[in-house]
Amino acid sequence: MTELIDGNAVAADVRDGLADAIGTLADAGHTPGLATVLMSDDPASQTYVSMKQRDCEEVGIDGTHVELDPEADASELYDTIDELNGDPSVHGILVQMPVPEHVETRRVLRAIDPAKDVDGFHPENVGRLVAGNARYKPCTPHGVQKLLEASDVDPEGKDAVVVGRSDIVGKPMANLLLQKQPGGNATVTVCHSRTKDLAAKTRQADIVVAAAGVPEMLDGSMLSEGVTVIDVGVNRVDVAERSSAGSRTPSDDADTGKGYELVGDVDFESAKEKASAITPVPGGVGPMTRAMLLYNTVKAASEQEG
Ligand code: GUN
Repeated sequence: MTELIDGNAVAADVRDGLADAIGTLADAGHTPGLATVLMSDDPASQTYVSMKQRDCEEVGIDGTHVELDPEADASELYDTIDELNGDPSVHGILVQMPVPEHVETRRVLRAIDPAKDVDGFHPENVGRLVAGNARYKPCTPHGVQKLLEASDVDPEGKDAVVVGRSDIVGKPMANLLLQKQPGGNATVTVCHSRTKDLAAKTRQADIVVAAAGVPEMLDGSMLSEGVTVIDVGVNRVDVAERSSAGSRTPSDDADTGKGYELVGDVDFESAKEKASAITPVPGGVGPMTRAMLLYNTVKAASEQEG
């Protein structure tokens, strides 16, 4: 029997687990504060940010949102970050990525006060993560660790293959799985667009984390029996194209009613024939990313007010 890893349920547990810390802060007269900054008119980014704001409201985090014209000068973004850095009611700052091309991503990440960098993307925090002393674990890979833990899959001694090498998911994921710490101790292989014979690598894996951003690039033929599959992909695929290509299956439940479907980096139907446990898209990693952002924000508030 293949276990379907329920990200919504694990995320709800993470949110419930924050109640004590939020209560302790409230007793001392503090409310955790998260500022989100969006400088994009990409509908997916807009949706992500509004979901993050809604999550804040639900758990008792004070959410503020700043929206900047994507055509505005980069200095507007840096000024906004400076203001938020100096605002004691804001404990965490998240600038939704990607930022427009005329804005230098590295400079944005460096501008955020590392103590408020709840994404964990500031070079100081990246360095700490790599050194095994993370301040904030980046939300998506941290969420993946929690999903593995909740499914009783201990990476220790296992062969883990991470497909994708992004700064947001692939690299920190590989680092976390490698750490000599609970949730780590795996033998990690990182695959990417230049990897030769990807299937040979993924077939070796006990755990596959698919985070390449390529719709359904991995299928059951590339996996070994009993593998745990964590699908980080969130790809918007045109419904019309997908049904005309004949790849749509009757069990597809990812239709958004908006002309596109969300599909992962894994072909779910064939992968689930091989996997002992697998995450769905949606309802797998996505809710965990959001829950771990709340976790990091509460941690930031506890440290700044403690
Ligand atoms: N864009 C896609 N994922 C993320 C994330 O985890 N944090 C931020 N800030 N932007 C993103």
